Amino acid sequence: MGGIGKTTIARVVYDRIRWQFEGSCFLANVREAFAEKDGRRRLQEQLLSEILMERANICDSSRGIEMIKRRLQRKKILVVLDDVDDHKQLESLAAESKWFGPGSRIIITSRDKQVLTRNGVARIYEAEKLNDDDALTLFSQKALKNDQPAEDFVELSKQVVGYANGLPLALEVIGSFMHGRSILEWGSAINRLNDIPDREIIDMLRIGFDGLHELEKKIFLDIACFLKGFKKDRIIRILDSCGFHAHIGTQVLIEKSLISVSRDQVWMHNLLQIMGKEIVHCESLEEPGRRSRL
Ligand SMILES: Nc1ncnc2c1ncn2[C@@H]1O[C@H](COP(=O)(O)OP(=O)(O)OP(=O)(O)O)[C@@H](O)[C@H]1O
Ligand SMILES: [Mg+2]
Repeated sequence: MGGIGKTTIARVVYDRIRWQFEGSCFLANVREAFAEKDGRRRLQEQLLSEILMERANICDSSRGIEMIKRRLQRKKILVVLDDVDDHKQLESLAAESKWFGPGSRIIITSRDKQVLTRNGVARIYEAEKLNDDDALTLFSQKALKNDQPAEDFVELSKQVVGYANGLPLALEVIGSFMHGRSILEWGSAINRLNDIPDREIIDMLRIGFDGLHELEKKIFLDIACFLKGFKKDRIIRILDSCGFHAHIGTQVLIEKSLISVSRDQVWMHNLLQIMGKEIVHCESLEEPGRRSRL
């Protein structure tokens, strides 16, 4: 399931064990990266350059496969392929274990179990929801900046945790939304969660968006539709030229767990991005020209 913590777990495992290997590489968001222009070749280049710690130039992707096999065949390597959704991605990056030296490990995360079973993956681990205690701690950290809720907030916190159903992404977004609000506001937010049928995660995440001010909403939607992955400074420059006061706006979005910044680039969780695009889409279902963003 999206937002359950697959990437987070893979990242932790990767950081803990990478010292045992001759080379390692964490390929994040393979699905999205692969879909970009030249994505396949670029991912192959990244794989080779990170493992070999030298620049790799690949002119086309079938050559890339040859090169990966030739250069990595004898190396004991650790690779994470994060968010794979199609066997073509595996075929171009790590089709068989014999491409790599003995003792190598390939970790693949996917929302789709079929991708793993179809490609002869040796062991499958299904990411589990957070248990109630951990869920309460995560929520409390975001909402109250504390590992455990203060007495007044215990019952309400438990209710939210029940709605979020152990899903870390929802706990983060709702928790950040609740931060700094009064008990009364907590109550009405919980009523809104209560109204969501089927506990659809996208609908739960929407509570974080609805609580933003107008300019912050615009910034959020522009990032979701156009600017995800851009450098933070560049985003601020672009949005400031529209009069959005983006410096403070992006800071608020970070505090609300709606975007994050890593290596200077602005990221947004894929489900939040889907929500953002959906909000724009719903502005006019039939006529794209009437939407605020094309
Ligand atoms: N065990 C955890 N403790 C605290 N926070 C967590 C934990 N697992 C995940 N999170 C947080 O929840 C959010 C979603 O996690 P993550 O991106 O790993 O999900 P995912 O399963 O990879 O989702 P997707 O299928 O959309 O890629 C992240 O912001 C992450 O920081
Ligand atoms: Mg992920």
